[in-house]
Order: sequence, then structure tokens, then C-alpha cells
Amino acid sequence: MEKLVVTGPTSLKGEVTISGAKNAAVAILPATLLIDGICTIENLPNISDIKISCQILEALGAKIKWNNKNSITIDTTNITTTKAPLDLTSKFRASYYIIGAMLSRMGEIEVGMPGGCKLGARPIDQHIKGFELQGATVTVEKGTIYAKAKKLKGSPVYMDIVSVGATINVMLSAVLAEGTTIIDNAAKEPHVVDVANFLNTMGADIRGAGTDVIKINGVKKLHGNATYSVVPDQIEAGTFMLAAVATRGDLLLKNCITKHLESITAKIVEVGGNVEDYGDSIRVWCNKRPNKANIKTLPYPGFPTDLQPQMGVVLSIANGSSIINESIWESRFQYTEELNKMGAKITAQGKTAFFEGVKKLYGAPVYSSDLRAGAALVIAGTVAEGTTEIYNLEHIDRGYENIEEKFRKIGAKIERVKE
Ligand code: UD1
Repeated sequence: MEKLVVTGPTSLKGEVTISGAKNAAVAILPATLLIDGICTIENLPNISDIKISCQILEALGAKIKWNNKNSITIDTTNITTTKAPLDLTSKFRASYYIIGAMLSRMGEIEVGMPGGCKLGARPIDQHIKGFELQGATVTVEKGTIYAKAKKLKGSPVYMDIVSVGATINVMLSAVLAEGTTIIDNAAKEPHVVDVANFLNTMGADIRGAGTDVIKINGVKKLHGNATYSVVPDQIEAGTFMLAAVATRGDLLLKNCITKHLESITAKIVEVGGNVEDYGDSIRVWCNKRPNKANIKTLPYPGFPTDLQPQMGVVLSIANGSSIINESIWESRFQYTEELNKMGAKITAQGKTAFFEGVKKLYGAPVYSSDLRAGAALVIAGTVAEGTTEIYNLEHIDRGYENIEEKFRKIGAKIERVKE
């Protein structure tokens, strides 16, 4: 078993280069199944979710060559099976994108129910509704999803809720369908736009990604022979921005799209931090105890749920009392119990948490319940006085490339230790 050992407090200072976006990359890789040919994907984050995505594609017949640790060339000319390996697909959430892509490419797919962070109920009814409206038959039996379609047909699809996964999945199934699909009440996250940009680079006809209505005119074929670079990770950038505030540090984040960070920038300024925006890089610094603030998580362009735990660390040491209202996931406050072990005073009830700001956190052994909770604990360990031991690193490794090295370079005293 591995743990991260963090000794604090440290004020984080220096430069961080932001990696490619996990949530875009885990959709772009299955999207390559729509291409009957070869393409190169660059700026891939080197994280375990990407390695598993590649293993799933290889099990389906794709050939993958790693050009370096952040770039692959993938040949999807021969897809040899329509059964995705259950042990791999159950390991992460985004395995559901195999359904949209394979329905479109092969007319059939058998895949396990997706796994991923335990954030409460994570239904996929809106994905299934979209496929069915396009003419597919979808059944779920004993944890396996069976989806079939002779020929998918474009259709209007109104999403009952704003869902990143369902928007992207229906986009994938619509690209090669006969006719036009219009997704109404679509998610507008940067990774939705990035997947659309990737598919359009390969010959798809998708318009309106980034707004709440996306129109996809089905095309006969996607061509390969192109190179695509994944968008920078909004959530990794936001994690380091909040780390700068929590540790009263000064960080310059390179390779980010600051337009995607506006909701975070606004809250950082509200709590008394400073931000300088250079378009493709951003400087964040803070030289005092943060002020209190209230947060409500919302779909993009609102404050992202995936930065809620990291913001929770800032508010746990703020001057005054704050409230976070989590509107996306039912169980996203598990990290607050761990912060309380470190001296925080947080009461979580359902989807609301009350933060009574304390002056200091103290090191303690803590457990990462999910990916972003893990990142929050790394920040908390850097803020806290003494030694923090963070367990359950598999969650963190799913989504952050080399987290300890990036934190160490900006001054954190952090080691990965095998027990
Ligand atoms: C994606 C992100 C995840 C992020 C979340 C919200 C990936 C791989 N993961 O997850 O990091 O926290 O967006 O920004 O991109 N819902 C339904 N029915 C559905 C689909 C979703 O009721 O068919 C509900 C969910 O329970 C949740 C809300 O809709 O309450 C949003 O979920 P969704 O945007 O789909 O999240 P994911 O795509 O799973």
C-alpha cells in the first residue's frame, strides 16, 4: 500500500504546467473508435484512467503506439469484438463512452455498468434515452449493458438534466447516424467542446458545442490521418489556483485557458486572493487568511463540483463562516470528515455543508474517498502544521498526473511512501 506523506505548513511558490484534461481525454479516446483509420492524440494526461482507456481500446482491436508519455498514435481500422472487458470498464466512469462510439461504429456493444468515484447515485438514463431516440435497443441485465442498433437515425434529444456524460455520449452516437440529431439542454463544459472539436477535425459536422443546443449532422465516414491536442485541464488548474490561496502562496500556472477558470477566479477574488490573467497562463497569490464565502456548485459556467472539495479546504481556514451547497452529487462531502480530523469545524448535512473557519489545520492520517477529495487532502496537508498521511492514492492517481512531483516543485514537502 502506498501513502503520501506531507509535512507542512508550506507556502506554495513557483510555476506549474497544467496537463491535458482528464474528462476530455477519456471521451476523445473512445471517440477514435468512430474513425476507420489512424490518428495521433497529444497532450494526454499521464494518469491511470487514460492507461485503462487504452487497454479497453486494445481489447476491442485497436492498435496503440505511445510516442511519449503524453502522446499516442491509435489505429482503429480493425475492431475485432463488440464485447468490452468487464473488469476494465468497471474501473472508471467514462467507460460509458464506449457505448455511444461502438453503437455508431459496430451497431452493437456489450459493456459493464461504469465504475468511478462514489459520489452518490450515478444513473445513465439520459444516455440510454438518447440512444433509444436514435433507434437503438438498450437493456441492462446483471450489471451489463447490451445496446444494439441496425442503423442509428438522427433525432431531437431533450436532456431532462444537464449531463456532461449524456451530452458527449449522444454526440458520439449521432456523428455517423443518418440525419440530424439536436441535443437540447446540453452540457456546456470545456470538455464537451473539446470532444466536438476533435470529432470535427476528423470530419464530423457538429455545431453549437459550448451552448445548450448542439446540432449534429450525421456524416458517412470520419477520416483519420490527423493530430489532435487535448484541451488543458480546467480542474487541475483550479486545484492549483485554490492551493495557492489556501497556502498563502504565489503560483504561475502555464498551459491553461483562463476563460474556463472565470467562476474560480471570481471566488478567489471574493475570498481576498489576487489573480492576474494572461490568457494562456494565470498567476494566483494570496498573502492573508482567506475571507468567508458561500458556494453553490453548478454545471459550467457555474462553479464546478469537481473543485468543491479543494474550495472546502480554503473555506475551512477562512475568517468567518461559509456555506457550500452541492447541487450535482449527493455524497460529495465525505472529505469534510477527514478535514475535521485535521482540526477543521465542518458540519455536513445532505447536500449542504457549514464551515466555521479555523485558524490552523494540524497533520493527521486521512483517507481519500474519491479523486477530488484526494486533491483537497493534498492541499490540506500542505496547509497543516505537522505531518499528514494520505491513504487510498488510487483515486488521486486516476486523475492527477504526477501530483507529488508537481507539488514538490512548488515547495511542498511531500513523499510517496510504500508501506
Ligand atoms: C462528469 C465528470 C465528473 C463531474 C461531472 C459533473 C467525466 C468523466 N466526469 O461526470 O468529474 O463531476 O461531470 O460536472 O467527465 N444524471 C442523471 N442521469 C444521467 C446522467 C446524469 O440523472 O443519465 C445526473 C447525475 O446523477 C448528476 C448530474 O446528472 O446528478 C450530472 O451528472 P453528469 O454531468 O452526467 O456527470 P458525469 O458525466 O458522470
